[in-house]
Amino acid sequence: MFPLRRNRRLRQSEAIRGLVRETIVTPDDFLVPLFVTEGKGIKEEIASMPNYHRYSLDQLEKEVKDLWSLGLKSVLLFVKVPDNLKDNKGTEALNPDGLMQRAVKTVKNAVPDMLVMTDVALDPYSSYGHDGVVENGMILNDESSSILSEMALSHAQAGADFVAPSDMMDGRILEMRELLEDEGFINTGIVSYSAKYASAFYGPFRDALDSAPVDMANVPKDKKTYQMDYANRIEALRETEMDIDEGADIVMVKPGLCYLDIVRDIKNEFDVPVAVYQVSGEYAMIKAAAEKGWLNHDAVVLEQTYAIKRAGADIIASYFAKDVVKLLS
Ligand code: PBG
Repeated sequence: MFPLRRNRRLRQSEAIRGLVRETIVTPDDFLVPLFVTEGKGIKEEIASMPNYHRYSLDQLEKEVKDLWSLGLKSVLLFVKVPDNLKDNKGTEALNPDGLMQRAVKTVKNAVPDMLVMTDVALDPYSSYGHDGVVENGMILNDESSSILSEMALSHAQAGADFVAPSDMMDGRILEMRELLEDEGFINTGIVSYSAKYASAFYGPFRDALDSAPVDMANVPKDKKTYQMDYANRIEALRETEMDIDEGADIVMVKPGLCYLDIVRDIKNEFDVPVAVYQVSGEYAMIKAAAEKGWLNHDAVVLEQTYAIKRAGADIIASYFAKDVVKLLS
């Protein structure tokens, strides 16, 4: 008998495809990154991220209400820090009345049930654009880790539900967890960027926050001494295992599309939720190709979202979250 089996029977109509579909995407899957800036009445488009914006606090309030009405219940906050507040140690990051701390309160006041995660990183606050303290052309690990822990505590005190360290210093999850426990923030969770690669796909994000490494003598030109080498796979398991042992509640792989093999490796190996960050460069590529009429924007966005979920993501941090939720409904 030929063919032995007719697999196409299960693809004959949308109804049967729906019945046998293995991967489901819902608004519950998304974490929405949001960029916050000082000022009033500001909703400015980021040049390399068409239709994505930086919001002043009053506009942020409107945006999170809109997200909530669409069923999007979790946000990940990033801040753009004015140049005059930047220094090597990111001192402004610990200001209890700093932009991030006010942003957390703004979101919680506007939508009390919104889950608020904060980016814990020095680069937006660093005069050198690095995720750690720079000394003699190097990035100091332990000094940076201590500052990041203080920063996480400050975010928790402002009301953050989860802190998300995106720096890749060694040992920072343990130090952060201990400080949070000591200070009574036993329910503040940690999303660790565990397998974060030194990627060229972060370019538009660095435009959004004006956070790129500066071009100066004795300042590393890239982040390759702390973010991972994209040639490595086993190293991602080691990084992830350490972060889980140190107290991470959720682990993250970043970027998304080029690293879905890593996502699946981690999903197969560990039992904590896995987040995937579809980063700014991935967003920009789709927007640019769609603008030229070379790709069907909505179709490509959905396909990539399903691919990320299928690879093993429990959580998707994506600039397309609103688009996807609208397309699904
Ligand atoms: C830095 C940070 C980066 C992103 C999130 N946190 C950039 C970097 O590591 O240089 C990138 C996110 C994106 O590109 O969308 N702490």
